[in-house]
Amino acid sequence: MDGVVQYVRRPGIVDLGWGHPDPGSLPTGEWAEATGEALRRFGWTALTYGAGAGPGPLIEWLRANLAEVDAAAPRASEVFVTGGASQGLEMVCALLARPGDVVLVDAPTYHLALRIIADREVDLRPAPTDDGGILPAGTEELIRRLDSEGHRVAFVYLVPTYGNPTGASLDGNRRRELVEVAARTGTTLVEDDTYRELTYEARAPRSLWSIAAGGPVVRLGSFAKTVAPGLRLGWITADRSFVRRLVDRGFVDSGGGVNHLAAVTMAQFGASGRYARHVRTVRELYRTRRDALVGAVRGQVPGARFRVPDGGWFLWLGLPAGVDARSLLAGAERAGVSYLPGNRFHLDPGAGSDRLRLSFSLLAPDALAEGAQRLGRVIAGAVAAAQL
Ligand SMILES: Cc1ncc(COP(=O)(O)O)c(C=O)c1O
Repeated sequence: MDGVVQYVRRPGIVDLGWGHPDPGSLPTGEWAEATGEALRRFGWTALTYGAGAGPGPLIEWLRANLAEVDAAAPRASEVFVTGGASQGLEMVCALLARPGDVVLVDAPTYHLALRIIADREVDLRPAPTDDGGILPAGTEELIRRLDSEGHRVAFVYLVPTYGNPTGASLDGNRRRELVEVAARTGTTLVEDDTYRELTYEARAPRSLWSIAAGGPVVRLGSFAKTVAPGLRLGWITADRSFVRRLVDRGFVDSGGGVNHLAAVTMAQFGASGRYARHVRTVRELYRTRRDALVGAVRGQVPGARFRVPDGGWFLWLGLPAGVDARSLLAGAERAGVSYLPGNRFHLDPGAGSDRLRLSFSLLAPDALAEGAQRLGRVIAGAVAAAQL
């Protein structure tokens, strides 16, 4: 598949680094059926320039779906269909961030969002955090200090639900307090809600967007994890004036609604019941894989420290004292296993070297077990060497 897909297979390596879906889970047949149905249902309207905010039938279906998986549903005027969470973030940056602005981010956080934001030539800084995630009072203090020093804080970015890389979620009190801080300081929260529907134990916590009700939260959603990343399809919920500004972008005026054919096909994929069935299937698949990796890491990795993630795709593994995630990587790959070192998810290159991100989405349970066994041997070797 050279030149077709992003993923690069390295023979002999159990690669726990990729946050990609299981290829076998991607709904090629069902998507083909939905495409045929969408073309018959929408006719030529599927193939021309689409409505700026996205096609009405998708927005209606999304509203109904969000009413089920979140504490509140947006109004139609509060939804904008995007080319996925990454493209949504790119558009949000275009509206909110000017070169030289400060953008605060959770730490650790989704490493590739850092790249999208950094493309704007902004001053990226970590918000204060502890083991429970971002600290609202500390963030308020930091925003006020930056403000008094003459900086403009463009927004705060975070993944509060089944975060990448931690798998953890911000608790209800911090969610409320953070929304209050944003309202008091006039700061926008950019909530990346990509993993909401990949929940393995219970309903996901309510979104920051639903707490803010027309307030200072722009929420990014995606179909990349629930259906397929190749669709490059997602959405934003935000207050209607923000959605109007998105619709007003020259890029939309010129090209029409973002990714229109995929959007009308998704409307059909949703309305036909395929989406609900597919999400149930992948939730089960990834729950099984999470359990396989958790069990294997517990059994095979000496001194493993982690919280069992109750959603998302990642296990955030703490290393024994004295073992450094970056120094370990070359030896791990020689031993046939790979991962992403924790530093990749921090702005400060010195932070996070005591952690690894292990992804359980791509590989089958036996490969996950083999990867954990190899990793366990490499870590045990590093611990022994550190004690010499
Ligand atoms: C937190 C987070 N946001 C966004 C994305 C990318 O989303 P999309 O494929 O919709 O651009 C990912 C994918 O790994 C992610 O983990």
